[in-house]
Amino acid sequence: MNKGNVFPWLDERLGLTTIYKTVLDRKVPKVNWWFTLGSASLFLFMMQAITGIMLAVYYVPSPDKAYDSIPYIMNDVSYGWLIRGIHHWGATLMVITVFIHMLRVFFYAAYKYPREITWVTGVLLLLSTLGMGFTGYLLPWDQKAYWATTVGTSIAGSVPGIGDFILRVLRGGTDLSGVTLARFFAAHIWIFPALIIALIGVHLYLVIRIGISSVPGKND
Ligand code: HEM
Repeated sequence: MNKGNVFPWLDERLGLTTIYKTVLDRKVPKVNWWFTLGSASLFLFMMQAITGIMLAVYYVPSPDKAYDSIPYIMNDVSYGWLIRGIHHWGATLMVITVFIHMLRVFFYAAYKYPREITWVTGVLLLLSTLGMGFTGYLLPWDQKAYWATTVGTSIAGSVPGIGDFILRVLRGGTDLSGVTLARFFAAHIWIFPALIIALIGVHLYLVIRIGISSVPGKND
């Protein structure tokens, strides 16, 4: 088989042209820059995933090693300062971007029929993004992280009736300990990312299936 035959051979079996046309070659209404924020959120999530995987190579999630692994990454690992910097500021930028994306959807009323489920998966995405920020903040295991999480988990624990239960689930006991660190690490690198990937899958499936809304008052 020569080179020119490879693509048609694969295309016939995998339907690559159909996938390309459905996902990328879609008709979109005339929109503006506010409509780029969903894609910007997606880009930031991918950056967080890549830099997070790189950090996980050197970060040690144990109470006696976590604190020291941060200066090690910053000073001794090649470009560790850059990777941690991108991950640190990327987290804040992602929260801001996702939030402004939500405001765009709200003020353009793009949550209305038939996009209600896109909105609901979006709300869950926002909560999961905040969950990533909350669990990631503890990982440096310094004074700021320890006390911020003490305060944060106390606030969650003040829910009437089930507050004590929530507090114990979050801390893995009555006080913050190595158990809390292990729990937050698992949530930060497994539970929330898995949830976010699944939610983005549904979110984007719906964006492609339904098509993007148009600017109110234009194209209609
Ligand atoms: C990690 C978080 C998120 C990612 C990666 C994401 C991604 C996207 C992308 C790529 C689009 C299409 C382009 C655009 O309109 O910007 C979109 C549209 C949409 N998103 Fe999100 N999104 C996220 C969070 C949210 C949140 C928090 C909400 C609302 C609570 C939301 C609700 C919607 C809705 C309703 C649409 C359809 C908008 C339309 O058709 O005009 N999304 N999202």
